[in-house]
Amino acid sequence: MEFLPISPESLDKAAGVLRSGGLVAFPTETVYGLGADAFNPQALAKVFEVKGRPRFDPLIIHIAALETLEKVASLSLLGGETRQKLFLLAENLWPGPLSFVLPKNEKIPGIATAGLATAAVRFPDHGSARSLISLSGGAVAAPSANPFGGLSPTRAEHVRDTLGEKVDIILDGGPARIGLESTVLDITSGNIRILRPGGTPKEAIEKLIGPVGEDYGDRGESDIASPGQLKSHYAPRIPLSVFSGEEIIRTPYEKGRVFLFFDGRTRDLWLQARGQTPSNALVKVLSESGDLIEAASRLFETLHELDIQATSSRIFAQFAPQEGLGAAINDRLKRASCKYK
Ligand code: TXA
Ligand code: MG
Repeated sequence: MEFLPISPESLDKAAGVLRSGGLVAFPTETVYGLGADAFNPQALAKVFEVKGRPRFDPLIIHIAALETLEKVASLSLLGGETRQKLFLLAENLWPGPLSFVLPKNEKIPGIATAGLATAAVRFPDHGSARSLISLSGGAVAAPSANPFGGLSPTRAEHVRDTLGEKVDIILDGGPARIGLESTVLDITSGNIRILRPGGTPKEAIEKLIGPVGEDYGDRGESDIASPGQLKSHYAPRIPLSVFSGEEIIRTPYEKGRVFLFFDGRTRDLWLQARGQTPSNALVKVLSESGDLIEAASRLFETLHELDIQATSSRIFAQFAPQEGLGAAINDRLKRASCKYK
C-alpha cells in the first residue's frame, strides 16, 4: 500500500492503478471512497472482498462529467416527467452529495449493482476526486472505504487504520468537508423517494421537484431497498445509545460513560443538572452553536475519536433536530445504536 498526498503525480499514478484493476482509496466531499474501475468485474469483486461487503449490497458509480451519465445509466427507460426532474436536480445539485438510483446501462457489470437493474450514480463535488475519475476511464465504483458495517472514513488515516494493506493506494486529501455520505434518491419511477438521507437535505430536493417520499427506517435483511438501510450500520465498536435532549440531560455520569452532545446548550444544562463538573467525564459536542452543517461534518470524526478511547464502555449520544442535515445525522446515530431493532 502506498499512502500519498494529492498531487498531479499521485493522481496519475492512482489512475494507472485503477486502469489496471487495482483499488484506490480517495477523498470526496462526503467521505473517503474505495474506488475500482466501474467497468472491470474483477476489480469490483476485490472491493467486496476487501470491505467484507455482502454481494447483495450495490456500489455507487462516480462520474466526473455529465456526459458520462449516459454510459452508466439508461435514461431512455425513464418516463418524460421523471427525466425532467432528474435533469432539474442534476443541474442544481450536481456536483454534490446526491446519488441518483437510475436504470442501469448494460455496460456496467452486474456485480457493481449486486445484480439489480438499477445503478446509483454520483458526481462528486471534489476536484481531485474528479481528476482521478477522468484520468482513470470516466466511471469509478466506490463504496465508503471502511470495513462493512463500520464507521465511514472522513480522513485518509481512518482508511489506513482499517483497510491498510488491502488497498493499493490511499490518496490523502485531508479531512472530508461534509463528513456524511451522499443522499441516495431513487428516481427509477414516478415514485421518487429517499433511500438514504445524507449530505443533500430533503428540503433542497423538494424545493426543486416538490414532495418526495422516504423509504428508510425499520428493516431487516430480507426487506431492504438499499443496504445502507440495514438496521445496524455505521457502528462504532463501543455500544452507543441515543436520546432526546431532555432525556440526555437526565442521564447521570458514571465512569466509562462518554457523552456526545449535539450542541453546547444541552451540554451546559447537563452539567448544571449534575451540580458540578464530573471529574474525568468524557464529553464531546458536535457543534457548540448547534449548527447542523458543522455537526454533520464532525459526527463520524468524533465517533472515530471516541472509538479508540480504551476506557469507555458506552457512548450516550443526543439526537439533532430532525431538519436539514439533522435527518442524516439522526439516521446514522440510530443505526449506530441499532435503534431500528
Ligand atoms: O457519499 C457517498 O455516497 C460515499 C462516497 C464515497 O461517494 N459512498 C458511499 O457508498 O457511501 P456506500 O457503498 O457506502 O453506500 C452506498 C449506498 C448503500 O446504502 C447502497 O445500498 C445504496 O447506496 N445503493 C447503491 N446502489 C443502489 C441501487 N441500485 N439501488 C438502491 N440502493 C443503492
Ligand atoms: Mg458505506
